[in-house]
Amino acid sequence: MTPGGSTPARRTFSVPTLLTRSPLTGFPARGHLPAVAGGGYSRRAGRNTDADRERAITGNRQASWAFADAFVSEDDALIRARRRAHEAGLRPVSPGTGATLRLLAAASGAKAVVEIGTGTGVSGIHLLLGMRPDGVLTTVDSEPDRQQLAREAYRDAGFAANRARFIPGRALEVLPRLADGGYDLVFCDGDRMEYLEYLGESLRLLRPGGLVCFEGTFAQGRTLDAAHQDTEAIRLRELMRAVRDSPVFTPVLLPTDDGLLCAVHRGP
Ligand SMILES: C[S@@+](CC[C@H](N)C(=O)[O-])C[C@H]1O[C@@H](n2cnc3c(N)ncnc32)[C@H](O)[C@@H]1O
Repeated sequence: MTPGGSTPARRTFSVPTLLTRSPLTGFPARGHLPAVAGGGYSRRAGRNTDADRERAITGNRQASWAFADAFVSEDDALIRARRRAHEAGLRPVSPGTGATLRLLAAASGAKAVVEIGTGTGVSGIHLLLGMRPDGVLTTVDSEPDRQQLAREAYRDAGFAANRARFIPGRALEVLPRLADGGYDLVFCDGDRMEYLEYLGESLRLLRPGGLVCFEGTFAQGRTLDAAHQDTEAIRLRELMRAVRDSPVFTPVLLPTDDGLLCAVHRGP
């Protein structure tokens, strides 16, 4: 989302746009990547077919996504934090994205996590739920009032005060002060225009094997449609290419909600 913006309408895709105008087409792609964003893959045939591609964007697929997004339910503390986010005009991570973050934090045994974009605490609660019990979430936001709401939300969710370190300030001023190689996971949900810079900072902050995740990389579908040439869409495409084509990352673009781009930093 655009920080501070209101909740956008659900994404809708147009078939011709996705099939013929992917902005990712034409860039150097790894051999195993489909050339067309949104294309399907047939396990049985071992290749993409037109039918697979169409199936990938049918209403059924959208229903599957909606079902998957709601699959892991949220407790009352998360529901309250989510309500406060909406009241503040923010777009918190969806339940499915939250569950994904929780899983990634758990799978990586995360003890030290950086979050850019605290908001009212929805993603932070999910991260804390997945992290080790002695783990500390360092969360950065330019708006101290929102961090106060998040502090209350973490407490409401049962986390001790020492599980979170709140740093108010703009990410590009705060991140350079954090320790090199000191973090297991960096979650980026601040200013999308700065995501490429967050990527550079993440390379320095992550231990080898650490994870970086970027929320909202679809920009409500604009990054998938070459007709959109606004600066944010262009910069997000640059981010996607940089992560996908870098030899130091093992990447995946997860279609949860508004697109969660994740990559493991394989080290130097
Ligand atoms: C989408 S909201 C975060 C939602 C939160 N991650 C969640 O799921 O509950 C984006 C947040 O990023 C903050 N933000 C925007 N630009 C920022 C920047 N340059 N540095 C730090 N925080 C920023 C905004 O104040 C806002 O609280």
